[in-house]
Amino acid sequence: SVDRGPEDPTKIMSIISTLPKKEGLNPSYDLYQYQGFWIPLVYLQATLFMQENFKAQPSDIYVCSSIKTGTTWLKALAFSIVTRDIFDDSTNPLLTKVPHECLPFLESDYATNTKLDTDLPLLATHLPYTLLPQSILDCKIIYICREPKDTFVSMWHFIRRIEEENFINNADVTLEQEFKWFCEGKSAYGPYWDHVLGYWKASIERPDRVLFLKYEDLKKETLCYVNKLADFMEKPFSTEEQARGVPEEIVARCRFESLSNLEVNKSGLHRPETLSGFSNSVFFRKGEIGDWKNLLTHNMEKSIDKITQEKFQSLGLTF
Ligand code: A3P
Repeated sequence: SVDRGPEDPTKIMSIISTLPKKEGLNPSYDLYQYQGFWIPLVYLQATLFMQENFKAQPSDIYVCSSIKTGTTWLKALAFSIVTRDIFDDSTNPLLTKVPHECLPFLESDYATNTKLDTDLPLLATHLPYTLLPQSILDCKIIYICREPKDTFVSMWHFIRRIEEENFINNADVTLEQEFKWFCEGKSAYGPYWDHVLGYWKASIERPDRVLFLKYEDLKKETLCYVNKLADFMEKPFSTEEQARGVPEEIVARCRFESLSNLEVNKSGLHRPETLSGFSNSVFFRKGEIGDWKNLLTHNMEKSIDKITQEKFQSLGLTF
């Protein structure tokens, strides 16, 4: 493990207490608007701490995303690619741990422990590009995003599941209300569009540092993207590995059907020690493109598409 910084001596709460706030699942997950983004309290505390103290190693690779955009899948793929020489089909940690536990998540793991318990050069964060600790900007970054309607619908179901499992009664938060908040940017790590744009612009300016992926592309051409990921991480598949079908094996191991059927992902618990732990199965719902059609009205479709067009089109980003 690598020591990434000294113990914290900050006045973080006094900064946070002055910020605009929106209630979350519980006080730890209340959202605070910091430098344009709505971040859950526990993660914002960690963010401010990291901005002072976190020192990335130059060889680190960061898996970055907003929530509900394919993070679980990308973590599984990146982890499989990086560790393919270390584990085989019987020892792979992905068989016994949810992908989120296979690599450190900065906002949780660094918040309480400045020594990250990892020898892997692979780490994850949901932070927007502009809030990343400075030293991360010199590292390789892989970002995944997803069509905004599907992202919102995935988030809607995710929050409802967590509430159900934690016996939180938020029946008064209607779909319309949650949709309005999402469109206004008041969602965890939102505004979603600004999160995506931060990494999109960075990927244009520094394509050697930032690999920008879309869930939809990954879904349609997984094998092609697994090769791209391996190249980007400087772990390209050799001719011999290609001949043995190693990239295909990784694609198969990380498919929605494979991961969601593993016992750990059916019955295991995610961070049960926290105030709002939940089942690993909550990370695996449908894994499809276009499920928004089953939830959103035509008017919702029109209004969210308008935002997407206004924010993304002039910058050449389309879905
Ligand atoms: P749905 O809610 O639309 O099904 P995240 O991992 O960022 O939390 O995103 C969760 C979304 O990714 C969920 O979408 C989930 O079902 C989907 N997902 C999880 N694992 C996947 C996989 N291996 N392949 C494709 N989609 C996956």
